[in-house]
Amino acid sequence: MNYDTKRDATNYAAINWNSIEDSIDKYTWEKLTSQFWLDTRVPVSNDLDDWRGKLNDLERHTYSKVFAGLTLLDTLQSQDGNVAMLDDARTMQERACFNNIIFMESVHAKSYSTVFSTLLSTSEIDDLFEWVDHNEYMQKKARIINHYYQEGTPLQKKVASVFLESFLFYSGFYTPLWYLGNNKMINAAEIIKLILRDESVHGTYIGYKFQLGFNELSEEKQEEFRNWMYDLLYELYENEEKYAELLYDEIGWTEEVKTFLRYNANKALMNLGQDPLFPDTAADVNPVVMNGISTSSSNHDFFSQVGNSYLLGEVESMSDDDYDI
Ligand SMILES: [Fe+2]
Ligand SMILES: [Fe+2]
Repeated sequence: MNYDTKRDATNYAAINWNSIEDSIDKYTWEKLTSQFWLDTRVPVSNDLDDWRGKLNDLERHTYSKVFAGLTLLDTLQSQDGNVAMLDDARTMQERACFNNIIFMESVHAKSYSTVFSTLLSTSEIDDLFEWVDHNEYMQKKARIINHYYQEGTPLQKKVASVFLESFLFYSGFYTPLWYLGNNKMINAAEIIKLILRDESVHGTYIGYKFQLGFNELSEEKQEEFRNWMYDLLYELYENEEKYAELLYDEIGWTEEVKTFLRYNANKALMNLGQDPLFPDTAADVNPVVMNGISTSSSNHDFFSQVGNSYLLGEVESMSDDDYDI
């Protein structure tokens, strides 16, 4: 019997965390593990009074659909996205980071169900899943991204992932952040902020790994790849515009959501080391939503629930200078 595997026909190497090829892997592992959280620790039921008393029917419908859309995206990330990137890892420590990321994507995907089970009946939940599993624009974005996860090159997979996490999520994130900025539904928003904080690390890390590969290409190949990347972003943006119109026309938020989308599309490009596509900046985004993003939790106790929110440790979102090591 020949027990050789295709990865290594001779010896199987043990992962050595004391011999680090890329210090960004170790740094990212520490960051990821320090911000570990679970949906079940967030007291979403404290939002029930807001849900029943402060939101009208249209707002509840919009809010629910937004969360259903986010569920689909995090399902894609947890079931296919990060798995597709595992074998492209440059180091064993990078694979370990992806193991963490895959698990957290499952926590994200599950956390929306925790919100649903608190706020909605079983038949309402079933209707929502039926809606998102057949919605034209949600399905189109999932199909495009998953196409690259399944068929793309290692660099294309990373671009698809960063576009999904740093850009496509934000047509949905807008709503809980808007309510948070208005001091409503703050516990559900706490979940969103924990997800956002994770996605910030994922987007920066995967963007960094992308740049390592991208910089190895010839100038000509880079140019070709860049054209593909901007075309893909614009195709996704056009689909996002339609999704935003469908979700937000009735409530009157479409234009401000589109601004938020363009701002985040630029941030996705920034994670990939590319120039912005749109003129929009943070100053153009509705300040209530920016306020929602920057609102910090009052609770700094690891794994306890003092007060009405839950945020782990003294951890902040990543920014570019976190990589100035
Ligand atoms: Fe996620
Ligand atoms: Fe992610």
